[in-house]
Amino acid sequence: MTQKILLTGGAGYIGAHTFVALHEAGYYPVILDNFANADQDTPARLAQLTGRKVDCHDCDLMDKAALDAVFEEHDFEAVIHFAALKAVGESVAKPQMYFDNNTGGLINLMGAMEKHDVKRIVFSSSATVYGDAEQQPIPETAPLGATNPYGLTKLMGEMMLNQMQVAHPDWTIGILRYFNPAGVHTSGLLYQSPKSGNNPPENLMPRLLEVAVGTRPHLMVFGSDYDTPDGTGVRDYIHISDLCRGHVLSLDALIRTNESHTVNLGTGTGYSVLDMIREFAKACGREVPFEMADRRPGDVGTCYADVTLAREVLGFEAELGLAEMCIDSWRESGQADPTT
Ligand SMILES: NC(=O)c1ccc[n+]([C@@H]2O[C@H](COP(=O)([O-])OP(=O)(O)OC[C@H]3O[C@@H](n4cnc5c(N)ncnc54)[C@H](O)[C@@H]3O)[C@@H](O)[C@H]2O)c1
Repeated sequence: MTQKILLTGGAGYIGAHTFVALHEAGYYPVILDNFANADQDTPARLAQLTGRKVDCHDCDLMDKAALDAVFEEHDFEAVIHFAALKAVGESVAKPQMYFDNNTGGLINLMGAMEKHDVKRIVFSSSATVYGDAEQQPIPETAPLGATNPYGLTKLMGEMMLNQMQVAHPDWTIGILRYFNPAGVHTSGLLYQSPKSGNNPPENLMPRLLEVAVGTRPHLMVFGSDYDTPDGTGVRDYIHISDLCRGHVLSLDALIRTNESHTVNLGTGTGYSVLDMIREFAKACGREVPFEMADRRPGDVGTCYADVTLAREVLGFEAELGLAEMCIDSWRESGQADPTT
């Protein structure tokens, strides 16, 4: 029988892309999202892409009764928990909102799983749990910490799930620490940032796109005095298709082995913001103006993954590079030459 997988935050950037990857892998993903940071027509676009009906519940994780009703309606094999607020700067300004939504949302979700006897969960964690790591590339055994409230919600999420597993040894948990997801599905039907809504994108790629199409005059590069080769922040950008494949492999591994894992999902290579600007300019064939600005609170200088464990535990290896991420993102603008 096809296994039903609940995707909280499934209408968002990574959730929607993972929906497609799970569908292609033979799972039956079901979306739960409150559309706080997603377009309402995402389920329709997913239906167009996959050629199947899309079960989507417009539901807030903070609404326990509505959450319970979703679990009543379906027999889930596992949950992939994407739903969260994710803007670091906003979290510094509004920590309470992040604690409520991200930590409170996970608490409610774990309660629903416990009540309905769902024992597997994949959790969207982040390299931010390494804080300002000294060791590069960063192995999963590096000391953990948080430099901002958003990061703290990820760290708390991991710790709460690990404690649930102590209490319920038959739970299996996949904690995936993403580095920097970038790029979009080659169809151009899925976006990195919602087309509607009030939240300006904080991630580098959507901002590059805005500058390239002229809706933003220039890119602000936050921090030019980091201890990196060109002074700008160095990150491990991972193509969304690789990242989503990592989720399918994580889920497969939980089901196959009944063992939990905590792994980095990255490429193992770091690129600076200026490297990214150059690559994006090449992809879109136009200049990308930028200005240097002060560091943002909560940001770190360098962060890239040790990918050994992901290879050993999941058989995961990133296949796509910076060029593909930039070309696919540029296609999202609708201005790319369709022959390229
Ligand atoms: N994109 C990144 O760079 C990145 C990096 C590391 C980790 N992550 C984590 O990955 C996950 C997915 O990120 P994304 O980039 O797809 O973000 P996103 O904002 O595109 O998707 C998150 C989705 O969760 C939904 N949501 C938020 N709060 C909710 C609630 N209370 N109830 C129901 N739905 C809710 C939003 O509407 C949105 O559709 C998040 O947990 C994020 O913290 C993202």
